[in-house]
Amino acid sequence: MNMLLALASDHGGFALKQEVKKHLDSRGIAYKDFGCYDESSCDYPDMALPACDAVVSGECERALLFCGTGIGISMAANKVNGIRACACSDAFSAKFTRAHNDANALCLGGRVVGAGLACELVDLFLDTPFEGGRHQKRIDKLTEIERRENAR
Ligand code: RB5
Repeated sequence: MNMLLALASDHGGFALKQEVKKHLDSRGIAYKDFGCYDESSCDYPDMALPACDAVVSGECERALLFCGTGIGISMAANKVNGIRACACSDAFSAKFTRAHNDANALCLGGRVVGAGLACELVDLFLDTPFEGGRHQKRIDKLTEIERRENAR
């Protein structure tokens, strides 16, 4: 797969990120890790931001983000214009957040999912195309909300 991914985590997602990296290596998928780089306590917005910037700028195609629950880092990611992040711990959501929401960031909780399930979710997220069609106008409405918020 010819795709550069942006990875980021806090300390709560660090170990899971390391497991997912091994999986990406086995699939030959390239990634850039925006930190953190060990399990020292840190704040998930600090790592989410550069990874999401890399997606919005086009440097990276999608982001894989990790914290303890997957939730905090998804909240940070969804503050960035152009990011559609989904905190996810089941296969149906990982698939349909791509098919219907054209999600460009998958957020996983290192204290929620094991490495095996996480890698399965990553595969679904990477391999499922956006369906477009009736879903596109809903994505356009999300973009409209961003425009409104920028003008506030
Ligand atoms: C860090 O302890 C933890 O709060 C963080 O990783 C995350 O779960 C927040 O949503």
